[in-house]
This record gives sequence, C-alpha cells and structure tokens, in this order.
Amino acid sequence: MLVAPSILSADFLNLERDLKALEGQGSVPDYWHIDVMDGHFVPNLTIGPEFVRRIKAASRVPLDVHLMIDNPQAAALWYAQAGADLVTFHVEAFGDCSAPLAKGSSYQIDNLTTKQQAEIDRLIDRLHQAGAGVGLAINPGTLAELLVPFAGQVELALVMSVHPGFGGQSFMPVALDKLASLRVAGFAEAGRLLEVDGGVNLETAPQAAAAGANLLVAGSAIFHAPDRARMLSDLQRIA
Ligand code: DX5
Ligand code: ZN
Repeated sequence: MLVAPSILSADFLNLERDLKALEGQGSVPDYWHIDVMDGHFVPNLTIGPEFVRRIKAASRVPLDVHLMIDNPQAAALWYAQAGADLVTFHVEAFGDCSAPLAKGSSYQIDNLTTKQQAEIDRLIDRLHQAGAGVGLAINPGTLAELLVPFAGQVELALVMSVHPGFGGQSFMPVALDKLASLRVAGFAEAGRLLEVDGGVNLETAPQAAAAGANLLVAGSAIFHAPDRARMLSDLQRIA
C-alpha cells in the first residue's frame, strides 16, 4: 500500500523538522500529500507554489499536490513548475462554484458538458506537457462515473472521503462504492493510482484497500499519532 502523509496536519512552523523526522526513520513516505486551498472552493486557505518549491528542495519524497481551488486552469501549472510530481484538480471546479458553501458541505457536479470535458482535457494535456502526473478528484456528492471517460488519460483518481477543507474529519463510507467502480473502470491498473483522502486511519484503511484504493492519504492519523513512523509503516503494511 502506498501512503501519502498529508502535511496539513504537520506543524507548519517546523515543517522541515516534521518531514525530515518521518523521512529519516525506517519506512519512507511514498509521497507528501500537499493540500492547496483557495478560500473559495473550500472554506480554508493554505499553500502557494513557492511553498511547494521549498518543500521540493528540502525533501526527496515525491510530491502529491491536491488542488482544492476554483479555476484550476489559472494556477495548476504553477504547481507543476514548482516541482509537484502529481497535480490533482477537482472536476467540480469546472461547474458552478458561486453558491455559498454551507458548513460541512462541498461543491458537487452532476454531469460534465462536452465543453467542460474539453476544458478538463486541455488542462490534463498542459500539465503533462509540464512534466507532471495528473489526477482528477471528486467530492463526496459527485458520482464516480464522471471520471470514467478520463480513465486512459490520467495517472490518478482521487476520491474524497470527507468534505474537503480540514483534517481530522470522519471517513464517509460513500467513498467505498466509488473506489470499487473506479477500480473496475481501470483506475487502479498497473502504474495507476486510486487515492482516497479524508478520515483514513487503521480502522478505515483496510476498507478502502478492499474497495480498491492503492494510495492512502493520512493526515491526523499519522501526525497526531504518538509514534508517527510506526503509524506510517502500519498503514503501508495494509493489504
Ligand atoms: C482535506 C484534505 C486532506 C486532509 C486529510 O480537505 O484534502 O488531505 O489533510 O486529513 P485527515 O487524514 O486528518 O482526514
Ligand atoms: Zn487532500
């Protein structure tokens, strides 16, 4: 099992210390998961490309950048240029993100028009040309079927198992059926990543693995564990 600790739950003022401590002991993280939030697509605001560039310079672990931003066409390339190995954006960002977000919710999109699909195709191409692997993400309210037409084009599908914006929330079982159908659609085939993000811990990780996930994001489960290195290796051992 591949595991990407989410740095959202690390200590930003001592980030290098936190990353080096996990990198330097026994099992190494497979990716650092970096949550980019714009204060609009989700009700929180985090990391810009310069911050990613500094992490890239400080760590040998590949970077899995999760863009929770509206209008990713404007900013996604910055993250590829900053050294992200994987850049994942949300399909909901191509729909209407103007309604105020109620607490404990996230945008959803019920279908993609031909025009929206073409915009997504174009951003995938631009990111590939910049040398990044590309991921497509869905929020809890969006159907997995929307990703199926892109199965041959992207390196990664990301199923949110919480409403994005914050660490430390509880895993939503609705993610399990989506993982299972994306696995059937070929998203977990050789060299491809089927990622689950939110509320992943020793109890929920085996369920996600059984449903087909091969990349687990874990923020609070790792960074709030008494022994972080041990938690990382325990999660990596989940079959
Ligand atoms: C939530 C983020 C997650 C978050 C996960 O919006 O996308 O990556 O860090 O945190 P945990 O593992 O604590 O649910
Ligand atoms: Zn994330």
